[in-house]
Amino acid sequence: MKTSDKLLKVREYEEEMGNRIPKEDRPAFHLSSRVGWMNDPNGFSFYQGKYHLFYQYYPYNTVWGPCHWGHAVSEDLIHWEYLPAALAPDEEYDADGCFSGSAVTLPDGSQMLIYTGVVRKELEDGGIREIQHQCLAFGDGMHYEKYEGNPILTKQDLPEDCSPYDFRDPSISVADDGTYQIVTCCGTPNRDARIVRFTSPDAINWSRGKTVIQNNERFGKVWECPDLFRMGDKWVLLCSPMDMLPEGFEYHNGNGTLCLIGDYDESAEVFTPQHDQSIDYGIDFYATQTIVTPDGRRIMMAWMQNWDTTPGYRLDPTTWFGQMTVPRELSVRDGRLYQWPVRELEEIRQNRISFENVYVSGEMELEGVRGRMVDLEISIRSADPEQVYEKFTIKFAAGGRYYTMLSYHPRDQIMKIDRKFSGSRRAIIHQRRALVPSQNGEIRIRLLLDRYSAEAFLNEGAQTITANLYTDMGAQRITFTAQGAVSMDLVKYDLVP
Ligand code: FRU
Repeated sequence: MKTSDKLLKVREYEEEMGNRIPKEDRPAFHLSSRVGWMNDPNGFSFYQGKYHLFYQYYPYNTVWGPCHWGHAVSEDLIHWEYLPAALAPDEEYDADGCFSGSAVTLPDGSQMLIYTGVVRKELEDGGIREIQHQCLAFGDGMHYEKYEGNPILTKQDLPEDCSPYDFRDPSISVADDGTYQIVTCCGTPNRDARIVRFTSPDAINWSRGKTVIQNNERFGKVWECPDLFRMGDKWVLLCSPMDMLPEGFEYHNGNGTLCLIGDYDESAEVFTPQHDQSIDYGIDFYATQTIVTPDGRRIMMAWMQNWDTTPGYRLDPTTWFGQMTVPRELSVRDGRLYQWPVRELEEIRQNRISFENVYVSGEMELEGVRGRMVDLEISIRSADPEQVYEKFTIKFAAGGRYYTMLSYHPRDQIMKIDRKFSGSRRAIIHQRRALVPSQNGEIRIRLLLDRYSAEAFLNEGAQTITANLYTDMGAQRITFTAQGAVSMDLVKYDLVP
């Protein structure tokens, strides 16, 4: 298999520089960039007995640059091992980036990657635009060779009135009859989002695209990283809309995430949503990908960052920047998407401590409850059923000048994350609120901490709140505060991969 000089250079660089980053300076069980910049998960797949995860990667700096595909594998979705970068922008048709895409196993046993090749072109008016088209590469789980017929889908293949500048992020799946389909994002010339579907008998020759749904300006602009799949008797469309306007506590300004649940008419190729929600209500979450595991679970991972929260970090270019969320198992109940950390995470739980009916009024700590790699299960309710508490707060990664907190106001049913005091030196968003209805007066929180992040799964995963926190590792305390009086049950584990 031929490997371009560009790819060889990247592989040497990441091997040398990635190994210089001490393990303790990375998240313990979240995949982080081997070195330099990471954004979207790509090519999430199960191939030859292992989970493969590729990612948008610019190894030479901690800011976004011409995209490569980084690569890692895992046997359990928790312990990841880096493999050499899989793709570099080394061809005329992808010279300005190998953007996001997905992976599939072909009948001959090889793995095919389908990704967006990007080329910057000067237009007649002098402006510079990115032409985006879809490309293939074939490989063995380690080395990939780009297809000589690339690009395989270009603007000619789009439905009418689609712009070639927002044609990206192919998500591939195999239908029951063995044919292939992809959905991609696409936009009208004024960037109204469309999801376009293409089909193929052999994954190489593709039909002309058909629009399965158009946004009509309801949720932001272009819907990046779409993924359309069946769950039970419903269909789910996950995507990440750019440039959202806020709506109540459901959608926030900026780049957001969207889950539509509805019906998909396969013969008409039309998706009709019945329910909509944000996928995650926190600060750092974008660009999801899912797979079905060999035992039939639908698992989602996402970039644990957001375009709106990345600018302005001034990091050493040879460190890592960007990490993925914990893999989350999805389910749909009563028209709502639920998420729960994969059960493999339970294998790395140690040192269980539990408390029941702890009376919290004012601020307190619990013996043994501290740390930055922990799994906490908490449930809270009013200590006196006749008198609802005002507010309940958990502070974590706390110490010295630092803390991040989750606080719940039962009267308005709002959960808030606040990482203003996490040690950030940037004027970016540090707070978010979400509507989290209590259930029979009780709120359940599962909180995962992994050095530089916090993921809260609320009420069995009906809502999630995700944020990263680049807090000094000396800040290890966890405290509980109630205004009014709360009765709390708590189970705590250390997470030791
Ligand atoms: C989403 C995204 C994708 C694109 C990639 C480029 O975060 O903008 O649409 O393929 O990132 O890195």
